[in-house]
Amino acid sequence: MARLSALVRNLTAETAFTVLAAARALKAQGKDVVELEIGDSPFPSTPHAKRAGILAIEENQTGYCPSLGLPEFRMAAAEVVSAEFGYQATSENIVVGSGAKPFEQFFAEAVLDPGDGVLIFSPHFPTYLPNLERRAARAVLAPLRVEREFRPDPADVRRFVATDPQPRAIFLNSPHNPTGGVATRADLAAIAEVVRGSDLMVFSDEPYCHMVWSGRHASILAQPGMLERTVAAYTFSKSYSMSGWRIGFAVAAPDVVQAIGKLINTTASCSPPLAQRAACAALISDAETRDVYMERFRRKVERLCDGLERIDGFRVVRPAGTFYVFPDVRSVCNRLGITSHGLALYLLEGADDEFGVACLGGECFGEAGSGFLRFSCAEPDERIDQAIAFLPRALDRPDRVRRYLEANSQFVLSQPYRVN
Ligand SMILES: Cc1ncc(COP(=O)(O)O)c(C=O)c1O
Repeated sequence: MARLSALVRNLTAETAFTVLAAARALKAQGKDVVELEIGDSPFPSTPHAKRAGILAIEENQTGYCPSLGLPEFRMAAAEVVSAEFGYQATSENIVVGSGAKPFEQFFAEAVLDPGDGVLIFSPHFPTYLPNLERRAARAVLAPLRVEREFRPDPADVRRFVATDPQPRAIFLNSPHNPTGGVATRADLAAIAEVVRGSDLMVFSDEPYCHMVWSGRHASILAQPGMLERTVAAYTFSKSYSMSGWRIGFAVAAPDVVQAIGKLINTTASCSPPLAQRAACAALISDAETRDVYMERFRRKVERLCDGLERIDGFRVVRPAGTFYVFPDVRSVCNRLGITSHGLALYLLEGADDEFGVACLGGECFGEAGSGFLRFSCAEPDERIDQAIAFLPRALDRPDRVRRYLEANSQFVLSQPYRVN
């Protein structure tokens, strides 16, 4: 056996992909599974993107390109974020990457030194912590509270700066996965004020920028002075149904952009130019389709909320953004004596031999998510309806739950969740 590094031995991975693999394996064996575990889209990639990608291959645009990205794509990205999000960016502020996720690593490597403190609101996207570990930085978790509709509290940022021995960065994610919370302009203005008076840098993770269900997306970049202090990550995965193309970009100050360019140069070299041409076409020509898709997602979220609300013991706070619903299932877990991720896997594996629903336990997003389930809208409406119809039947099979817990004792709930 190879001797692996301490980093990789301790690295925690994104559970959505583990559950996705389990769901696909069950499907391959003939089980009918509704997949609501992964934050993906049931829609095809937008039409101009598809055509530009095909054309790029046919025209042999298949070689390397600059590490920072194709100039025309960087320019289109700068124009679109400036027009849509109320801040001024030029192509010097844009660096292209393979989705939003790689920018967590680039931010950590560009900004953090060992021992630096990083404030993360929790529940949180699971790959934030592993990317801090790459730089031996310290995560400081602050809970998102349901009383604040899961919006980040500026008071937590103030406290972090005042009390942490080495405060260096904060991670923001609005609209927020998994809770659906959306930071208001007032929240972001108050956070920006603290940042300006400190040595903090901000990683602003904005993959759901087109999924705000009332009003418009607000970025901290629109606050005065924040372009110097922020790396904001955007992706084509959600807005343009292009998750498999692996394409996105970040907006930052030119010196930070150049630093990230060096990190790309020394790892991936560049993101695939085919995907960049497709994404560029999406920005220029697919806004209309994107908006149609977003409206369809909004209706899917409502459908999912309406269905989940009717299930005995589920408490739903309607998400202000994103395509996730994050019901509180603590009383169901307490009744069945099962952890929330145990409940999620029971619905997939244990509740029925022929049919399953894949979703995630809230603890996949940190301890603060325990007692919740996360459902995405990644399936067609009729499949979402089938999943909702299945849940009460699955929860009404105590014999099956008992058998599942006997075979999977790690999911036995040792202490009931506190229900307020
Ligand atoms: C908060 C958050 N950040 C980053 C990502 C990764 O997106 P991408 O596919 O663009 O890498 C996701 C995807 O689910 C996400 O929810």
